[in-house]
Amino acid sequence: MAWLLAALAAACAGWLFWHSRRAERIAATIERLAAGDWDARVGPLGGGRLGRLARSLDRLAEKVQSDIAQLRRSDAVRKDFTANVSHELRTPLAAIKAFAETLREGAADDAEHRMEFIAEIERNADRMTRLVDDLLTLSALDSDARPPAAEPVDLMRLAAEVTATLKPLAGRKELGLRLEPFRDIPAVRGDRGQLKQVLTNLLDNAIKFTPEKGLVRVSAACAEGRVTVAVQDTGIGIPAEDLPRIFERFYRVDKARSRELGGTGLGLAIVKHIAEAHHGGVAVESRPGEGSTFRVCLPV
Ligand SMILES: Nc1ncnc2c1ncn2[C@@H]1O[C@H](COP(=O)(O)OP(=O)(O)OP(=O)(O)O)[C@@H](O)[C@H]1O
Ligand SMILES: [Mg+2]
Repeated sequence: MAWLLAALAAACAGWLFWHSRRAERIAATIERLAAGDWDARVGPLGGGRLGRLARSLDRLAEKVQSDIAQLRRSDAVRKDFTANVSHELRTPLAAIKAFAETLREGAADDAEHRMEFIAEIERNADRMTRLVDDLLTLSALDSDARPPAAEPVDLMRLAAEVTATLKPLAGRKELGLRLEPFRDIPAVRGDRGQLKQVLTNLLDNAIKFTPEKGLVRVSAACAEGRVTVAVQDTGIGIPAEDLPRIFERFYRVDKARSRELGGTGLGLAIVKHIAEAHHGGVAVESRPGEGSTFRVCLPV
């Protein structure tokens, strides 16, 4: 009998010791987490209540750690965004100031160059206006929790309007600008103004980044309840390593070239934002030296 009691007591002590070790491991992990060490984990702790608690605690730590990383990333994006805005505003502003000073210091009397300087001031002012307009568009899209208006939009008519507006721009580079007839394309529901901006931004890029005598084509197809509008060009194309980033705000493959063409790198960010707000999306295929195709798909 005595030996049975002794064995029972030893088993109880062992059981208590094992449980207290597991409880200690949990407590130690909680302390490390509380001290800000988000790498701390309890690790495998067997079954039972304590095992379940350990698993939940580890899952929680995992989730908080990934949320913190996400917050840090968005904070870095926000800081980058502010730095980019300041830089993009400062550049044309400095140019305007420099040209105005040159005029004040005597160039105003130089009939030959005066108009050139004034034209530069106007060009830089236009650039700032475009940037501010794009920023306002993005900020309105960011802050507007409501879905965009859902009026029926005839995409063929919209594309015809946009191509007509941009025809002179293409003409200056002797580019062919072809609008393929949209056959059997149903109307989509959406915000006409925003969808017009999508087509304008894509066509503006296609024209800008296609060398003289190239071709820009707009077409549409419908399948599985989605309309896809494609803007295709025979332009300079986009290197594969840049493709994943071109929809980011301010991202440009060749900053100097884009800036020379008056761009700030917000056009595609706006396109993506609008397409997603319409429950659609945008995709790109491109080969450097051969051309690019941007496809916007929208639910019917
Ligand atoms: N059709 C295209 N062909 C080649 N590169 C393109 C094309 N469209 C976009 N890109 C590249 O993607 C970048 C981002 O395009 P995005 O429209 O956002 O900016 P942007 O045209 O330079 O300036 P913005 O649109 O603000 O005037 C461009 O700078 C260019 O490098
Ligand atoms: Mg653009």
